Amino acid sequence: MSNLAYETLNDDAGASQRDIAAMQSMRPIPRISIQAFCETEGVAGPLERAGEDRRMAKAHLKVHMGGIPTAIEFYHTAPTPNLIVLESRSEPKQLLEQLSQLAECCDPSSKVVVIGHYNDVGLYRELIRSGVSEYVIAPVSMADMVGVIASIFTDPEAEPIGRSIAFIGAKGGVGSSTMAHNAAWAMSSLFKSEVVVADLDLAFGTANINFDQDPAQGIAEAVFSPERIDEVYLDRLLAQCAEHLSLLAAPSTLERVYDFDPDAFSHIIETAQRTAPLLVLDVPHVWTGWTRGTLIRADEIVITATPELANLRNTKNLVDMLKRLRPNDVPPKLIINQAGMPKRPEIATADFAESLGITPMSVIPFDPLLFGNAANNGRMLGEMDAKSPIVGTINEIAHILTGRSEIKSRKKAGLGSIIGKLKLNKK
Ligand SMILES: Nc1ncnc2c1ncn2[C@@H]1O[C@H](COP(=O)(O)OP(=O)(O)OP(=O)(O)O)[C@@H](O)[C@H]1O
Ligand SMILES: [Mg+2]
Repeated sequence: MSNLAYETLNDDAGASQRDIAAMQSMRPIPRISIQAFCETEGVAGPLERAGEDRRMAKAHLKVHMGGIPTAIEFYHTAPTPNLIVLESRSEPKQLLEQLSQLAECCDPSSKVVVIGHYNDVGLYRELIRSGVSEYVIAPVSMADMVGVIASIFTDPEAEPIGRSIAFIGAKGGVGSSTMAHNAAWAMSSLFKSEVVVADLDLAFGTANINFDQDPAQGIAEAVFSPERIDEVYLDRLLAQCAEHLSLLAAPSTLERVYDFDPDAFSHIIETAQRTAPLLVLDVPHVWTGWTRGTLIRADEIVITATPELANLRNTKNLVDMLKRLRPNDVPPKLIINQAGMPKRPEIATADFAESLGITPMSVIPFDPLLFGNAANNGRMLGEMDAKSPIVGTINEIAHILTGRSEIKSRKKAGLGSIIGKLKLNKK
């Protein structure tokens, strides 16, 4: 066997010694979705092998052929993933033009890595300036690919990748947990984006029932042994509920009492935010140091209320308090739930909204049959009746909470160049 043949065989069979050494210290890649559009086997091959590496076990990688034109066609109908890897043999000017077309149908939160064939500093600077996370010059090795993905998503200095969305009810039993679970499920299934649901109602949480899960371990293990929490430990506590959805379940038992320090959940939440792009926090209807702290730190807050006076009063107090505690954040989003319950006197949605100065994100009717069947069967509403208008409303909530609704309308207006859109994307 010639040396050349041996090297080729070695390359196909696995990583070189150099690659293995380079990858030793890399941390596992979080639960992100990655789609690659390649033009040559020389790039597709190492990427495919990167997808099989243990550090990429949690990430979902799909490699397509066809380069940027195929990506543009693809994302006209499909949601964009957390990371898009694009190989292009085009010369710099054409490459920038193609990327600008792609930006038109691309979610600004998606990161982009370009693998090019031109060693051109000007092009590199232009791409980084316009929001591309990295420009790599072919040929690339498997370790290069894992390395570049790790540099974007596992950098301990970088902001956590996950956005946290905290759901809280204006009163007990208004359906806050149901909204949290269904919105989480909708986000994971519509956008194929990994979602972690954390049930913070340790005593009475219902996420385990609603997702038909009975994990032996969950959030209690993490909160009672904070010194052990890291991504690997947290991973063992997660129960897989759907293809892109996992649950940090509450024990839902009364053996212990759950009096926590104000910061008790902050480390768990931050760690979870490093492992998945979306974290849904099901916060119980109580006002303690730790619920307040959890709400203050959340990226987004959703209040669920029913159209009654006590709910209005409590929502007003919550909105006012949160405004004081988070003066530089958007106000909480509001879901009016269980509207139109027979024989119940209700406050009209318009009056409810006016008193608060907040337009509700959605109004969900009282539908005991649909909700009751879903709850009793441990199924999500979308699994029970995908065509129900309520499921349509929950899908809309998923779009709003991930910033996609606005993007849709912007797309219609035909705005945005690569520079504008990809800028948002900058690390
Ligand atoms: N729109 C609706 N129509 C009918 N029933 C509903 C609706 N929304 C929620 N429910 C039902 O209301 C009950 C309470 O819901 P859920 O447990 O989600 O409320 P919660 O606000 O989280 O309560 P808790 O204060 O106990 O945490 C559940 O049985 C749920 O199925
Ligand atoms: Mg609840």
